[in-house]
Amino acid sequence: MSRKTPSKSERYFTTGLTMITSRGNNGPNVMAAEWVMQISYQPILIGVFIHKGSQTLKNVERTKEFGINVASQDQTTGVNIAGGYSGTELDKLKIKSIFKLIKPRKIKTPLISGCTINAECKLVKKQKLGDHVMIVGKVVNIRHDDSKRPLIYHKGRYFDLGSSIEQDRVKVNVQKDTMEFFKNIASEKFVVKCVGVVVESKKKILVIPRSKTILDMIPFSVPSPGMNQRDHLIKFLKQIRLNLQVEDIPIMKRLILKNGKNIQRVNFVLFKGTIRKSSKITKWKSPRQDSLIAGLI
Ligand SMILES: Cc1cc2nc3c(=O)[nH]c(=O)nc-3n(C[C@H](O)[C@H](O)[C@H](O)COP(=O)(O)O)c2cc1C
Repeated sequence: MSRKTPSKSERYFTTGLTMITSRGNNGPNVMAAEWVMQISYQPILIGVFIHKGSQTLKNVERTKEFGINVASQDQTTGVNIAGGYSGTELDKLKIKSIFKLIKPRKIKTPLISGCTINAECKLVKKQKLGDHVMIVGKVVNIRHDDSKRPLIYHKGRYFDLGSSIEQDRVKVNVQKDTMEFFKNIASEKFVVKCVGVVVESKKKILVIPRSKTILDMIPFSVPSPGMNQRDHLIKFLKQIRLNLQVEDIPIMKRLILKNGKNIQRVNFVLFKGTIRKSSKITKWKSPRQDSLIAGLI
């Protein structure tokens, strides 16, 4: 089956590329596939969307297993061959200069060497969706190669990954104790999510002490996952007896805290607050005195 030429908009999706290995009556086969993604952690499930005319689909229907080989930047020729010819036209894996096979551990279908990820999958679901068929594989063995970089596919062309960008994060140099405080809250998490309130008056910010030894901070707290941020904040303010009126428009502040080589990402959701008459106010501070507070307003 020849694939319809994609419309312009379809070509604007950006994907990685994989080579799907399978086993037919006449031996192993490989096809290129961009429509592949992990869809569950526990167990690891990967969905692949395959057109009905492919040899690969017939093979997978027969053996109920397949290999997912995530292509690296060195493998554009392999992907072109795997995607340009059907197994019915060419014994693609016989081209030894392009495809080097690796023995699988838990399935019988071979894998391809030089990829960023090799996953051995057992078929757990098959469903026709539009003009493609979704096959879902449960990963029974998986390995990755850190030294390889993934191949990116966009507008029908191959790209490399490029460098990581964190443009929307403000970098703030903080004192060692502030860093330790947030590292502690993070307990190994990549990002700490906090919700806080900013109360400004006469160019000063309302602050509260965060511990006996360190830091005045704007009032903030860490909600448990899934908890509504504003509801949590209001509860927290009540607990610390700050009687504030909290607005309902969130302001997002995404920071990278830095102290020497140490960094910690912190995402703040901030709400503006105003003091109600009966409030017991602890302290006001000029934002310029504190790099973290200055980064937050
Ligand atoms: C870059 C690229 C990405 C592709 N992605 C898919 C895909 O996600 N799903 C699909 O069904 N076919 C995809 N194809 C087409 C198949 O790889 C192609 O039809 C192949 O010849 C099928 O091989 P087989 O008949 O040996 O299984 C892609 C082709 C290329 C070049």
